[in-house]
Amino acid sequence: MPESRVPRRRRFLVCEPRHFAVQYAINPWMRPDTPVDTELARTQWQTLIDTYLAHGHTVEQVSPVPGLPDMVFAANAAFTLDGRVFGSLFRAAERRPESAAYEAWFKAADFAVQHPESVCEGEGDLAWTGRYVLAGTGFRTTPEAHREVQEFFGRPVIGLRLVDPYFYHLDTALFVLEEDGDGGNIAYYPDAFSPGSREVLARLYPDAVLATREDALAFGLNCVSDGRHVFISPGATALADQLADRGYVPVPVDLSEFHKAGGGIKCCTQEIRS
Ligand code: ARG
Repeated sequence: MPESRVPRRRRFLVCEPRHFAVQYAINPWMRPDTPVDTELARTQWQTLIDTYLAHGHTVEQVSPVPGLPDMVFAANAAFTLDGRVFGSLFRAAERRPESAAYEAWFKAADFAVQHPESVCEGEGDLAWTGRYVLAGTGFRTTPEAHREVQEFFGRPVIGLRLVDPYFYHLDTALFVLEEDGDGGNIAYYPDAFSPGSREVLARLYPDAVLATREDALAFGLNCVSDGRHVFISPGATALADQLADRGYVPVPVDLSEFHKAGGGIKCCTQEIRS
């Protein structure tokens, strides 16, 4: 194990939770009309942003749109690599208008946006390992979209089947700890995946960090890692201990209000890889 892991500065796009609410149910975490403590949600979200900034990361913001309560979950809006942007096409009608709002931001920032032809929920289901795109399917993003992503970026896309509705997006069940060029490892909750997909993950990452169901239900896999610091839900204590044993530095950030909508740290964070 390296003595000290080296962080890489990241560029993030986020969306303030001004209109955040739970108004419809498109995953098992959501109960329509669950009261959300708006003030607490804003404070938790601001703490996440301040924590990123304090660790040297760049944070940019897209303006929230009234009537789009899930727009705070920036990760779902796109997948970016090599300065190129593959946009989103949401499965749920309620979220579809978010794509245009994010696309406008990317265009203003001089990125062209490729439109998916099939349902694709951005980094919710697509994770860059430094070598492959790990791609979830089963609940949201389709295998057709995986093929579009492979064609667009010219990078190998590895499809993984999610089987537990509580872990409906790949980023609720897996995250990249360190990119392949820098050592390369992931953390995941095996039972969120089909047997064949579990086998694929075990072959690719025999030394992966395996999380318990408890960690996963605490949104412990909805992490952002810079290769050294892992911004992690404070409820995932066993996972945080494992990460610390491997030389990572867990940085707890509590987004409990967002769990009511089925989201956490990673869901609120779109990475721009330019
Ligand atoms: N309510 C949102 C949905 O179900 C939550 C999205 C969470 N985002 C994520 N990257 N997992 O679509």
